[in-house]
Amino acid sequence: MSFNKVVVAGGGVLGTQIGLMCAYTGHDVTFWLRSEGSIGRTEPKIKRYSELMLEDLLKAKALIGNPVGAMLYPRGLIRDWKSISAEKIDELVAQAKENFAGKITIELDMAKALEDADIVIESMSEDPQAKIDVYNAMKDLLPEKTILCTNSSTMLPSTFAQYTGRPEKYCALHFANTIWKNNTAEVMGHPGTNSEVFDAVVAFADEINMVPLKLFKEQPGYILNSMLVPFLSAAQGLWANEVSDPETIDLTWRLATGAPAGPFQILDIVGLDTAYNINQMKPEAAVEGSTVNKIGKLLKDKIDKGETGVNAGKGFYNYK
Ligand SMILES: NC(=O)c1ccc[n+]([C@@H]2O[C@H](COP(=O)([O-])OP(=O)(O)OC[C@H]3O[C@@H](n4cnc5c(N)ncnc54)[C@H](O)[C@@H]3O)[C@@H](O)[C@H]2O)c1
Repeated sequence: MSFNKVVVAGGGVLGTQIGLMCAYTGHDVTFWLRSEGSIGRTEPKIKRYSELMLEDLLKAKALIGNPVGAMLYPRGLIRDWKSISAEKIDELVAQAKENFAGKITIELDMAKALEDADIVIESMSEDPQAKIDVYNAMKDLLPEKTILCTNSSTMLPSTFAQYTGRPEKYCALHFANTIWKNNTAEVMGHPGTNSEVFDAVVAFADEINMVPLKLFKEQPGYILNSMLVPFLSAAQGLWANEVSDPETIDLTWRLATGAPAGPFQILDIVGLDTAYNINQMKPEAAVEGSTVNKIGKLLKDKIDKGETGVNAGKGFYNYK
């Protein structure tokens, strides 16, 4: 199966990045958006993320020959770091500019957007009813060949498969934020996903410079968040119960495991508002005096002060 035309449904933070990554790797990309208002919000995101991708490519020149370069280069943008040179980076930049200008279309008419699509990646807000409505609307418009994927972080494909009209051609393809650097693609089917479709999605992920990570069964939180969320919760529990402070907890983790960052440094990257939302979803958040309740209060204090992490210039650490 070959993938030429990619349709991305939803032009938010992740949808924009996915579309750009597909265009970067030479695919024809159509963003399907629901309204003129959405176009007004998506176009500046396409501009901003394409500029960030080009900046990171150019910055990578300074990493050539540096021993830590292999850890820091934008892995989604440079497939083969070992053979990279400044000239090759210039060629990649020129090709990227051409692809961003020529391979991206925005379409409001769903039927037109889906025409001849090889793969559709749904990356809309985490609103189950909105996703169901869009799958229902797409069902009779999708060409026979089209594979349909969801980028949902918190919901399982089996929840939606019945609404797609093509459960055997439906699975999750889950990306991480800043996909041109953090190029993971978790591929997770539901029990009715055809194994050839699953393998085709794995191949597609590789084609767009992601590292495909296969899940053999459905798992809420996929592989990454199944590990990361409990790890970050445990660290926040030590802080909320005044066992230690974020600096010491991070230092312990870094020294004892050799990891480059501790949990509070990771939380600053994730953003404290996201950490707060995840915390407040737990039933114990409402139980006065519980660890989860204490974590919620401490995070809320920091959020109210504008200390939401790296993007705000301050979180647990100062980035100014
Ligand atoms: N942000 C992340 O770090 C991240 C990482 C991995 C996966 N995801 C997943 O990606 C998906 C999108 O997340 P995001 O962060 O890009 O969200 P976002 O809020 O930035 O964007 C959501 C997009 O969905 C569109 N949308 C909402 N309701 C719609 C509807 N009824 N019809 C058509 N379009 C609609 C919005 O217009 C917007 O373009 C979610 O499923 C999320 O779980 C997010």
